[in-house]
Amino acid sequence: MITAIDQRPDVVSGDANAMSPVWARIVSRCQESSNTASYTMKFVDPEIGRRYRFLPGQFNMMYLFGVGEAAISVSSDPANSDSLVHTIRHVGSVTFAVDRLKVGQCVGLRGPFGSNWPLESCKGRDILLVAGGIGIAPLRPAIYQLLKNRDQYGRVILLYGIRSPQDMIFKEEVEEWMERRDFQVLITVDYPSENWTGPVGVVTKLLRRVRVDSRNTSVFVCGPRVMNRAAAHSFLSHYVPEDQIFVSLERNMRCGIGQCGHCQYGPKFVCKDGPVFSYASVRNLFGKDEV
Ligand SMILES: Cc1cc2nc3c(=O)[nH]c(=O)nc-3n(C[C@H](O)[C@H](O)[C@H](O)COP(=O)(O)OP(=O)(O)OC[C@H]3O[C@@H](n4cnc5c(N)ncnc54)[C@H](O)[C@@H]3O)c2cc1C
Ligand code: FES
Repeated sequence: MITAIDQRPDVVSGDANAMSPVWARIVSRCQESSNTASYTMKFVDPEIGRRYRFLPGQFNMMYLFGVGEAAISVSSDPANSDSLVHTIRHVGSVTFAVDRLKVGQCVGLRGPFGSNWPLESCKGRDILLVAGGIGIAPLRPAIYQLLKNRDQYGRVILLYGIRSPQDMIFKEEVEEWMERRDFQVLITVDYPSENWTGPVGVVTKLLRRVRVDSRNTSVFVCGPRVMNRAAAHSFLSHYVPEDQIFVSLERNMRCGIGQCGHCQYGPKFVCKDGPVFSYASVRNLFGKDEV
């Protein structure tokens, strides 16, 4: 039985019930696109930095004093977890406040929370990653792991959909990945620029360009709701089994630890049971907005 949950690392927080954040300092900022930046952070207490571990797909709650908290995935390499990267699209109160911070200033963090991409149980299989926009951020730690242990997997393929070429995040890295012979990367845009020569259209259209071995493929999907739904249904129609399609879902979060009910998803909590779910485990809820 394949599960989305491997052994989860301990949660780092300022108290026993994981509700109070600890300080992390921004040590660098990289502007990824017009509204998105990656922030490298180090815990102010080096002992916490040494203890902190996360699994690909997990998230932290990021706290801005006097503003609020938001769930943000870790986008860095799990092998280097004392220096964390969070890639943030500035869309609302907390994320706009992060945008205004300078290098050297601090945020509060607690985590890591949630389930992870099931890299262990998918060993030996082809891995198809489907990312839409900022959805590539929670997939990047999985990509690092897959490339580090490349011989333990079959084909590794990334299908990446973005609005326009200017919206590509992790641009240099994506270009490096495209150079590799053991990693197939296909990118599509909704709005091409004059010099764009690649595919145009929704990310699921890229499926026509890859061979899917339905018996031996696991799929990891992360993007906007509509894309998640379309991608999951496309793979089902390619006969990929429901328990081999994994989707990272978004809900508004408050506590992050299954206590407040804010992220309720039918009988499940996205913060605790997700954000990574197998399609089989959410089949009846999938695509319904008000559950
Ligand atoms: C598990 C998980 C992982 C995530 N990982 C990331 C990540 O890695 N990077 C990232 O950037 N985001 C991530 N998110 C999304 C992020 O948590 C949300 O976008 C969060 O709401 C941002 O907080 P905020 O206070 O900045 O925005 P909010 O103020 O909560 O606003 C969020 C959205 O709501 C809209 N909005 C705000 N107020 C109103 C209103 N009054 N009426 C109508 N619409 C409104 C905003 O325009 C915006 O689109 C993740 C979410 C989850 C659940
Ligand atoms: S955020 Fe409180 S239960 Fe999930």
